[in-house]
Amino acid sequence: MRNLTILDDAVIVIRDGRIAYIGPDRRTGIAITEEFDARRATAIPGFVDSHTHLPWAGFRESEFNRRLQGETYEQIAASGGGIASTVRATRAASEDRLVDNIVERARTMARHGTTTAEAKSGYGLNVDHELKQLRAIRRAGERSPLRLVSTCLAAHEFPPERRDATYVDEIVEHILPAVATEKLATFCDAFVERGVFTREQGQRVLRAGASLGLIPRLHADELSDTDGASLAAELQAASADHLMYVSDRGVAALAASNTVANLLPATSFFLMSPRYAPARALIDAGAIVSLSTDCNPGSSMTESMSMVIQLATLQMKMTVEESLTAATLNGAHSLRLADEVGSIEIGKRADIVLLDAPNYLHLVYHFGVNLVRDVLRDGEFVVRDQRLVYGARAGEARR
Ligand code: NIG
Ligand code: FE
Repeated sequence: MRNLTILDDAVIVIRDGRIAYIGPDRRTGIAITEEFDARRATAIPGFVDSHTHLPWAGFRESEFNRRLQGETYEQIAASGGGIASTVRATRAASEDRLVDNIVERARTMARHGTTTAEAKSGYGLNVDHELKQLRAIRRAGERSPLRLVSTCLAAHEFPPERRDATYVDEIVEHILPAVATEKLATFCDAFVERGVFTREQGQRVLRAGASLGLIPRLHADELSDTDGASLAAELQAASADHLMYVSDRGVAALAASNTVANLLPATSFFLMSPRYAPARALIDAGAIVSLSTDCNPGSSMTESMSMVIQLATLQMKMTVEESLTAATLNGAHSLRLADEVGSIEIGKRADIVLLDAPNYLHLVYHFGVNLVRDVLRDGEFVVRDQRLVYGARAGEARR
C-alpha cells in the first residue's frame, strides 16, 4: 500500500476511454488527435468510494444539532429518530425524487474526485421501498458523472411497523429474490449490531443473498464488538465495514482473508467519537484496507473522499500513500472492479483526477479545501476547472 509509482513529467495517452500509454516519452507511436496540457497538476486515480447510503430523502440536521448538545446517536435512534426518520422520509419520496437526490450527490462526489461509488438501499425496509431505492440507483447511474454499483441493505434496521424476526424471513423470502430477479444489485449487506441484527440473522441474510448471486458485504463492529469481522471473513464477504470496535481476533481473521477492511473515519469524526478503527493494526497484520465516506444523513454527511483521507492520516495514522491506495485500488478490489478502475495503468479505464497541487502529499497537507481541478471518467471530462461539465445543463435547468 505504501509502494506508489510516481512519474514526473508524464504523458498519459487515452484511447477509447482507456489508458493506452503512460510514461515519460511523448513519442509513443500512437496517433494523437487531441491534447490536453495538465502541466503543474498532479494526476491521481479517481477515488473509489465503496460505502455510501446515497438513495435517501430528508436531512437530519436537527438531530445533528441535538448530538452537538450531548445526546448520543443511539439515544436519538431509541427516541424514534435516526435511521427510522430517514426511512419515513424515503418511503414518502417518489422514485423520481430519489433519482434526483442521488444524481445531485453524485455530482458533488465527482467535483471532489470520486469516479466510482457504491450505493446501498436500506431506508426502504420492505419489498416495495427497497426496490424503489435500488431502481433509483440504477436510473441515477445513467445520468451521473460517476459509475454507481448497487448493494441491497434491506437488513439495515427493523422496519418501524415490524420490529421482530419475521422481517428477516421477509428479507430472505421476498426482498432478496425480487432484487436478484430484477438484477438490481451486485452486493448484499447487513448491519450486525447490538440492538439491530444478530450475528445469526446477518449470516442468514448474507447466505441467502449469496445463493442468489449477491456478494456479501457487512456493517461490522461499528458501535460494539459483535465479532462481525470474523463473520465477514467466514462468509468470504467482499468487505467488512466500519470496524471501530473490531477485536484482535477480528483483525487476525481479516488479515488471513481476502475480505477488505473498509474504514470510514468520517463516521467517527461526525459522531464525535474518540474511537477510530485500528487502521495501523489492520495494515500491519496484512489486511487489505480501503477507505470510504459512508455518505448518509445521520452518521456521515459528506461526499468528500479527500476529507476521509485527511482523517485517515491525521486520526488513524495511515500514511498518505496507504490512504491513497485505500481510497482507490483497494476500494475497487472490494467492488470487484480492480481490473477496470482504481489505478492509472495501461488497459484500465481512464478515470483520472487532476489535482491543483504540486504533488499528492498536498491532499493531506493542504487540508479543508477541494484541490480537485479536473476529473475524467472513461477518458471524458466530467469536471473541468472545478466546474461540472457532465450533466451541468440538467442541473441548471432544475434550479
Ligand atoms: O453506516 N450503520 C448503519 N448505517 C449507517 C447510518 C445510517 C443512518 O444513520 O442513517 C452507518 O453509519
Ligand atoms: Fe454505512
